[in-house]
Amino acid sequence: MAAALLEQGEDAFRRLFKYYKRRQPPPDLSGGIVDFSRAQQNCKVLITPLNVTSISDQEARKAGLQPVCKWKAYGLDDYPGFMFISDPFLPGWQRYWAKQCLKIYPRKPNVCNLDLHMSRDETTDLWEQSREQLRLKVPGKREAKSLLEKLRWVTLGYHYNWETKKYSPDHFTAFPTDLAYLSEQVAAACGFQQFKAEAGILNYYHFDSSLGIHVDESEIDCSKPLLSFSFGQSAVFLLGGLKRQDPPLPMFIHSGDIVIMSGRSRLFYHAVPRIVPNPEGRAIPSCLENVMARDSCSADTSYQQSDEGDWEICMKYLQNSRINMTVRQVVGVGQSFPITSETGKVAGSQPYSYHQDAEEDHEHKRQKLETATESP
Ligand code: OGA
Ligand code: MN
Repeated sequence: MAAALLEQGEDAFRRLFKYYKRRQPPPDLSGGIVDFSRAQQNCKVLITPLNVTSISDQEARKAGLQPVCKWKAYGLDDYPGFMFISDPFLPGWQRYWAKQCLKIYPRKPNVCNLDLHMSRDETTDLWEQSREQLRLKVPGKREAKSLLEKLRWVTLGYHYNWETKKYSPDHFTAFPTDLAYLSEQVAAACGFQQFKAEAGILNYYHFDSSLGIHVDESEIDCSKPLLSFSFGQSAVFLLGGLKRQDPPLPMFIHSGDIVIMSGRSRLFYHAVPRIVPNPEGRAIPSCLENVMARDSCSADTSYQQSDEGDWEICMKYLQNSRINMTVRQVVGVGQSFPITSETGKVAGSQPYSYHQDAEEDHEHKRQKLETATESP
């Protein structure tokens, strides 16, 4: 594309973001995108050794993971601290996490986007309110969206405030113990033994959604990794650098994959311009079809095999959706929250680019936000 054609303020990151986001003509997804699940690898991809003794096979199994020696972990040249683990889940566990994200985690006291314009009574149980509507949905037919399909994000633990771009000790609710356990095992295997899961942002995407260019820098302790778990359809993920304009590397994230941003990469810009069908071309990726082996169910009842009725609803949802759970440690040992001024603005904080939806016109708001993220 000729430089003269670029919009004002357009840079390599924004250009690629728009390229992968566009509908007509669709972008070329057949080359130039790193796919860690494929044998033939890009020269930038490195095999990363893990700390195989940091978690026992039993601890891994309890978290729904294969023994660490079986995980396929990768790094990228020029992206120190970035790690990619290709689906290390035991059969049935991806289903479990998808169900938690749809049925359990949106419940109060957790916070979701619908709370911004709906009363508490209207959002008490999105699952119950949506299940029949979702179950009866005919694929391809234009029908009213259920509440579950209008869900864009849920926050856990220290609830991220999208207006002030910060966490507050005054707005904290118990972090789910199952997700904390999973996160702490994964962090330990990656060399972060002391990681504490304190805040979570769950993102819910459909084929027309995207997540704008941003850095996750609201956590007070950025020496701790950010963990990201994905389920359902695939995504094109763009990983940039410390500067907003740095050209990004495109990669696919598939169901079950775990991304870890730590070290220097912890503060790298990134974005999700597009959700794409799973590479097998099935309604649901086969790794999600697997059921849990009886012996991998823990005594804890919340870990029991989810019932078939629940799965039918999750499957309906995941046919055109992707769920991403990000887990963060907010404060380090010996750290505390900064005293903030009355404006509620923390020094150095940046606006977070909001979730974008083709149908709802968030474009204008986002453009303003993206422009704002460019200022130093
Ligand atoms: C985030 C994020 C990426 C993804 O929630 O901060 O960058 O893969 N998510 O959805
Ligand atoms: Mn992020």
